[in-house]
Amino acid sequence: MKITGLKVNHLSKPLGFELNKPVLSYRIEDCEGSFQTEAMIQLSLKPDESGVVYETGILKNAYDSETGRVTEGIDSIGWKLDVSLLPRTRYFWRVYAKTDAGEQAFSDWDWFETPKAEGEAWKAQWITSPFEKDVHPVFKGSFEVRGEVESARLYCIGLGMYEASLNGCPVGDEVLMPGFYPYDKCLQYQTYEIVPCKGLNRIEFVMGDGWYKGRYGLKWKVMRYGYAYRLLAEIRVRYTDGTEEVFGTGSDWKAVPGAIQMDSIYDGETVDMNASDPTRACPAPIAEFDGEKILHARSGTRLKIQERRSAVRVPGDKAIYDFGQNMVGWVEIHRALPKGCRLVIRYAETMRDGELYRENLRGAKCTFTYVSDGKEERIRPHFTFFGFRYIEIECDCAISAEELVGCVIHSEMDRIGFIKTSDEWINRLFENIIWSQKGNFLEIPTDCPQRDERMGWTGDIQVFSDAALYNTDCAAFLRKFQRDLALEQKSIDGSVPCVVPMGGYPLAGVTGWGDAAAVIPWQLYLHSGDIGVLEQSFESMRGWVDYITRQTEAQNTAPLWTRSQQLGDWLALDGTDVYGGTDRGMIATAYYYYSAYLTALAAKELGRREEEEAYTRLSGQIRDAFRAEYFTPAGRIACETQTACVMTLYLKLVPENAYERTCELLRKKLYEAGMQLETGFLGTPWLLPILTAIGNADMAYRLLLRREYPGWLNEIAHGATTIWERWNSIEPDGSMNRDQMNSFNHYAYGSVGAWMFRSMCGVAPDERAPGFRVLRVEPHPSRRMAFAEAELMTPLGKAKAAWKWTDKAHATFALEVPFGCRALVRLPGENEELTLTKGRYEWNLEIAPDAPDGLDAGWREALNEPSTRAAVEVNFPHAIRGIPFQYEMQTLRQLTESPFSELTKEEIEALETAVINAQNS
Ligand code: BGC
Repeated sequence: MKITGLKVNHLSKPLGFELNKPVLSYRIEDCEGSFQTEAMIQLSLKPDESGVVYETGILKNAYDSETGRVTEGIDSIGWKLDVSLLPRTRYFWRVYAKTDAGEQAFSDWDWFETPKAEGEAWKAQWITSPFEKDVHPVFKGSFEVRGEVESARLYCIGLGMYEASLNGCPVGDEVLMPGFYPYDKCLQYQTYEIVPCKGLNRIEFVMGDGWYKGRYGLKWKVMRYGYAYRLLAEIRVRYTDGTEEVFGTGSDWKAVPGAIQMDSIYDGETVDMNASDPTRACPAPIAEFDGEKILHARSGTRLKIQERRSAVRVPGDKAIYDFGQNMVGWVEIHRALPKGCRLVIRYAETMRDGELYRENLRGAKCTFTYVSDGKEERIRPHFTFFGFRYIEIECDCAISAEELVGCVIHSEMDRIGFIKTSDEWINRLFENIIWSQKGNFLEIPTDCPQRDERMGWTGDIQVFSDAALYNTDCAAFLRKFQRDLALEQKSIDGSVPCVVPMGGYPLAGVTGWGDAAAVIPWQLYLHSGDIGVLEQSFESMRGWVDYITRQTEAQNTAPLWTRSQQLGDWLALDGTDVYGGTDRGMIATAYYYYSAYLTALAAKELGRREEEEAYTRLSGQIRDAFRAEYFTPAGRIACETQTACVMTLYLKLVPENAYERTCELLRKKLYEAGMQLETGFLGTPWLLPILTAIGNADMAYRLLLRREYPGWLNEIAHGATTIWERWNSIEPDGSMNRDQMNSFNHYAYGSVGAWMFRSMCGVAPDERAPGFRVLRVEPHPSRRMAFAEAELMTPLGKAKAAWKWTDKAHATFALEVPFGCRALVRLPGENEELTLTKGRYEWNLEIAPDAPDGLDAGWREALNEPSTRAAVEVNFPHAIRGIPFQYEMQTLRQLTESPFSELTKEEIEALETAVINAQNS
């Protein structure tokens, strides 16, 4: 038995992060037992028992017999350490646990370190730049170490951005610090472990503009948070004799013009190594800035170079290099170029006609320029990042592909979810989702990482959060985003901005985007089981719902939400504009219901009875009004789009008498569209789940596996290595979409990844006991693939689900249930639900074939399939030769019913039988 995966607030070994009452979690592996019977947590000031300052004592566990939730004792997926902690202190902790098989073990000692106390005064002053506003300063200070050092820390924040070094060596391994958050409402300092030498130490901060003071956001000018460079740094040295000495930024610090001439999130960076001028060194003035009022220890996760990739030269005259993957970060070259030599690197996601294609970067220049001083260097940008697969180099010196290092930068998040199938295209699609998540989880969840946007669009992460939480443990990352969202929300009367941080961009109060306030905390809770997430976000959830209530009341439409400005089913294909064809008031009211419903669920989990009742009542009222407005008394839906059907079915807004009709309409819409999806950002995430839920998993697979436009695999056919923003980012004729808004790295449609886990392989969290205490298992094997398997490191341990066909009618299904988990399993074709505990299971399944489509099949698709074509050829030769207006019709049935078909009733029946036989063959 092993105790592993120790985390504090979902972070491993957090140093100087905001902890409050930290939530500790761990996993139990390699044991005979199925669940934990008792546990103990010890907290020590040393990595052994001699420094223990607190222990829980051995606490026995009790579990709720119905849900399996922990009702007593320590819950391994999240246990709040409710003791007061000293500031700036490293605590060691370990876990003891025992299982029902009697095995027991201790974990290794792990650690976390507390930040400065909240509100603790800094023994340092803010300093600023003495130079003209465009000169990037380097701040320089020094301190004298008198004795033997036991430990030393640097606490600091630099605005816009900073890179620190001590005696010429980089401090820490993070980049783009101090990160990104609403700087006008909160500032986050970082903590670093440093190793000063005895005697004089030199410390330097290279400053950049970054998100804080550079060009950023759709309203470029307004987005700046401030115009001045600022730095606050405190160095604490603890000597072995127990004394401590503190040094800080102040009047003895100097500033020198640095080598960086320009940095911009969008435009790139210009570095002239000859420009740094030590003769201009002068005192750094004390800044008039009271930033300490909003200064806190950092939250979120660490931001680093996570991978390094190599490139190949693209054949042709131009010096273009291909990293083989659309990625986010920058390119480094380690070498000495001759003094004065200029190197220019232009970045792009794609190529066209032998050239970089950079039109879709819009106003972002995405260029790195470097002028050498002749010294050997790690040539790289410092305060920007690029979304790219290709670069073009302009330089008088030859640079070889081998010298190029593609640095992949993203926020730290452990990879936990893996999907593998027999279909290489689906495997690539899944990898593309992962890469789009990596590229867009850089400090904040962004829409895209390349053009002049890269903003925290709330709608995009709202629809992607479920998939994101399957792929990675990104709880700490998303919690910080929700914190930022709530901070912004307070400043705009409970409404939720469309981008977080807002930075002056005013769009807010939009359905599907604002609902990030309610949906993301709920998803976080489902996946992590950490109630602290709901505690943190409850006010924000309800603030959003109350905001909508006020809107509907003021607009006299309550409880329908039909009058505000909305973005609709963004980029859906069934409209004439970007908003899609689904009634926008219908979508807004449906989401209003959804957020009210989730707020009621959250209130229930938090034991807030009054709110639970209030939001349950409200969601009931919205549902009733929705039904009265959007369904006729006889059960016909008022808006006949794929998204309208999907959304109303998914949210259970369909009245009972309309259920069959709505399901039928959805199928019909798909058949009539030639089995093509038309859904946008809001309809797409629920399309495959709903088809699966209404018994049409095969249709879900057909949509997923479609290689033509529109569909996920169409992107793979075009060589995509990340998810596109639009179904037609590259048009069916191979040309580039001419729209201004065309990113090749946008995760919204990657929401389909969640369906792969939930429905294809069948592993899902369950409301009955979040955090996978209850694992809902409901796989849907498809004959369109030979096998599919999912592996997921849940908070309790590894879950695995894999199906594989053994012959046409039989498949095996293998399941691994983690320790401490209760799996509720529904096998294909079985009505009975099995309840299983930890272990490995395997079943042989006999699976009846899906009902064939018959004449409802799209005729194009049907004629592409040889045996169906043969059946049509014999029974309905007209359809092959061509019927007038054939191209305006979609299904085989429409062709038979056309006035030009000339088929008798009997001939149609014969055709149907032949087609069904062919489809069954
Ligand atoms: C972004 C989207 C976003 C949308 C909403 C776009 O420019 O890239 O992903 O959600 O605007 O208006």
